[in-house]
Amino acid sequence: MAFHDQTHKNGTVSKKPKLLPSPITAAEIQSEFSHHDPTVARLNNGAFGCCPSSVLGAQREWQLKFLRQPDHFYFNYLKKGILHSRTIIKELVNANHVDEISIVDNASTATAIVLQQATWAFHEGRFNKGDAVVMLHYAYGSVKKAIEAYVTRAGGRVIEVHLPFPITSEDDIIREFRHALERVKREDTNNKVRLAVIDHVTSMPSVVIPVKKLVDICREESVDQVFVDAAHAIGCIPRVDMQEIGADFYTSNLHKWFFCPSSVAFIYARKSVNSVDLHHPVVSHEYGKGLAIESAWIGNRDYSAQLVVPTVMEFVNRFEGGIEGIKKRNHDCVIEMGEMLVEAWGTHLGTPHHMSASMVMVGLPSCLGIMNDSDAMNLRTYLREFFKVEVPIYFRDGVGEVGGVTGYARISYQVYNKVKDYYKFRDAINKLVSEGFTCADLSTSTPATVV
Ligand SMILES: Cc1ncc(COP(=O)(O)O)c(C=O)c1O
Repeated sequence: MAFHDQTHKNGTVSKKPKLLPSPITAAEIQSEFSHHDPTVARLNNGAFGCCPSSVLGAQREWQLKFLRQPDHFYFNYLKKGILHSRTIIKELVNANHVDEISIVDNASTATAIVLQQATWAFHEGRFNKGDAVVMLHYAYGSVKKAIEAYVTRAGGRVIEVHLPFPITSEDDIIREFRHALERVKREDTNNKVRLAVIDHVTSMPSVVIPVKKLVDICREESVDQVFVDAAHAIGCIPRVDMQEIGADFYTSNLHKWFFCPSSVAFIYARKSVNSVDLHHPVVSHEYGKGLAIESAWIGNRDYSAQLVVPTVMEFVNRFEGGIEGIKKRNHDCVIEMGEMLVEAWGTHLGTPHHMSASMVMVGLPSCLGIMNDSDAMNLRTYLREFFKVEVPIYFRDGVGEVGGVTGYARISYQVYNKVKDYYKFRDAINKLVSEGFTCADLSTSTPATVV
């Protein structure tokens, strides 16, 4: 039995038994996600996440509270509610102070916030034309476009660090990253690296990056600012600790692996760099009051997704070990399912086990003939439409091919998944292979970008 403090009218405090939510059962998990299409094997939690019905119910209550008396909601609930969510996130990620945590819509918004201040630094002469931004070759597509929009247009240079895939060790990443920074320093003595953009978990191919080590290298090489794009991290990666990682800026979505409805993310900005001119790209009444306050009102809109973080905490705490337990079991299960698939298909995983979290890259049989991005997208569409399997497919081009494998599936595991989802995928691919299918049989289409 747990106890909590109860304050009486006369000021005395006594312990009162607290009713803890009961541990969640398998049937309750099923019911929490009963809005999922039961006919689809949903192996792509990584792209859009999921939200249980109890959290959706709480979101609806916030929406109704607003609609019932909007002025009362605005003046008495909204700011307090967002501060409550920020306080929970601050504890979750071990930030130093709640002012370091702002809530925004998504990782794309957080990226715009960080890059916008870089643009101003170029325009205001704090950065010089030709100063560089370093990013991984596997940076997310929209982040690359944001760098182009905010940095390249302002006169900055972009350096991409190429990484091998499949990958066998963290050392390969650390070595490539260090070499890239040393090379810039050697070849361009007039310009500085102003910003490094490092993923915590790359999207495609999905690899857990040794982010703390890369941040340390940035410090050794005097990179001005480090931004970690950790769109997948919360609820997926074992240690998400702001003080330990030591980046200047860090963002994670809460709608991917932390059961929030779309769309909600946090951006952490280290207090010592708060003096950097950070602003929300949507300017409203709170401009100039600090990023967290600015972000808590960006005009009239629905803020309910930001207010359900306490309900999400209640939900995850019904699982053994809370969110840490969920992450551990998801990781163990996705590895088990990945190993089952590569054994069935005679292929290999794209990373060692410890370089994946709740997603893993699974080599597809080479006879499927995945020769370009279009083939990968067509196969994904075919699996959705004809087999009811939802899974992103990656075409791996260039050197370093292993065993003729050119395509990998990125499988996710979340609490709602069942072993039969992965068997369905296995059997679909086995059927295609046994029928002599190749991607050349499918018509061409334009590759989509959201994975
Ligand atoms: C690594 C990475 N960065 C950024 C994003 C963008 O996230 P959002 O669309 O929620 O802004 C994603 C989305 O999948 C991602 O995987």
